[in-house]
Amino acid sequence: MSNKLKVLVIGSGGREHALVKAIKKSPMLGFLACAPGNGGIALDCETPNISVSDFDGIVSYCLDNAIDLVVCGPEVPLAGGLADELRSRGVAVYGPNKSGAMLEASKAFSKDFMKKYGVPTAAYENFKDFESAKAFIENAPFDVVVKASGLAAGKGVIVPAGKVEAVEAAREMLCGDSFGESGRQIVVEEKLEGEEASIMLMVCGKNYVMLPPSQDHKRVFDGDKGPNTGGMGAYAPAAVATESVLKDVRENIISPVLDGLCKEGIDYRGTLYIGIMITKSGAKVIEFNVRFGDPECQVLMPLVESDVLEALNDIALGRLDPSLVKIRKGYAATVVMCAGGYPQNYRKGDEITLPDIEDPDTYIIHAGTKISGGKLVTNGGRVLDMTAVADTLEAALEKAYALCAKASFAGAFYRKDIGYRQLRRNSSGRDNV
Ligand code: AMP
Ligand code: GLY
Repeated sequence: MSNKLKVLVIGSGGREHALVKAIKKSPMLGFLACAPGNGGIALDCETPNISVSDFDGIVSYCLDNAIDLVVCGPEVPLAGGLADELRSRGVAVYGPNKSGAMLEASKAFSKDFMKKYGVPTAAYENFKDFESAKAFIENAPFDVVVKASGLAAGKGVIVPAGKVEAVEAAREMLCGDSFGESGRQIVVEEKLEGEEASIMLMVCGKNYVMLPPSQDHKRVFDGDKGPNTGGMGAYAPAAVATESVLKDVRENIISPVLDGLCKEGIDYRGTLYIGIMITKSGAKVIEFNVRFGDPECQVLMPLVESDVLEALNDIALGRLDPSLVKIRKGYAATVVMCAGGYPQNYRKGDEITLPDIEDPDTYIIHAGTKISGGKLVTNGGRVLDMTAVADTLEAALEKAYALCAKASFAGAFYRKDIGYRQLRRNSSGRDNV
């Protein structure tokens, strides 16, 4: 009997395709599937047609196929208890149990957790009642941000222009319908000023590996204009998270968070994504996610020089040795090619033409694609993540943009300024601008 690992990745986006490509490089891999996958993932491994919310289907697939390890990409199944379910059936999982996933699934829980364990974050109050929220907003000695507490696919945060707009956002969430159950409780918090960075940890109880800091680009248009999206591009390492910022994050954020999780009896095994704001008074947590960022994962996986599967498996089994995870030198960048109209209405089903890949440090990562009638077609707002690694950020971006120029589908568009903050910093010769 082979002792190579049989692995199932859960999800269907660019993040999962990046994970699949990284796992495929491992000499420990025996069999790989991704459910439900997408058009590009289907070229790399089996893609059983099981929805991420079909827990019975996932468990049966694992038992029928003797899957050793499940790697869960998205947060929704984790928040629903997929990892608990699989673990109770003896399947190892990379991804936290439902109790750990509360850090993302309930912003009210995560704020209370941070307060309890002294983690720096914006001042806040949680509300279920509109009148109390309104009074708090009107009397707060700071500008506020209004957040639906529950999962809202990245759309639950309103950064209002003033207090009137803030009160309206609170009313919409608590009294209206557009956020559903996720808006029945809200967090009103102090608006923080500074530059954001994403810190991704691979956590195994109190041990962890910090992957290179990265920066996402959430607005749809160049210059950070237009509505928020799932993310239009990313790069790593992000120099704004300097050594001293990272030291502050390790000592004042990661250490109390991992201690707190242990004290709460949560055996956390999976990614902890810490969205930070680098403010004048130190790094503060904006949010936790319990999965890899998308598109941050696309730039982090190619920067891991050691065996990604070994790390995922060791964490799932509770035995991570952080010194085994090696990060390569250089920079990675990803540019997201979107369907016209995204993030509002966009078309699906347009045929995609792709260039050949010649350079092993370039990757065409599929996000919203599928195979239909033997052709590769668009199947989402974010369609492709053109990714490259090079010695400099400038060179990585050049290679990623060269791939974008050679790919096509009707209505395709992408941001032309991914990494602009760091490029500006590089050309001004300063660490921070
Ligand atoms: P979240 O979903 O919590 O990451 O919030 C989405 C975006 O809203 C963040 O990436 C920030 O740009 C912004 N944001 C959230 N909380 C704050 C805050 N307290 N101050 C300023 N901006 C915020
Ligand atoms: N790129 C932001 C996120 O994954 O939440």
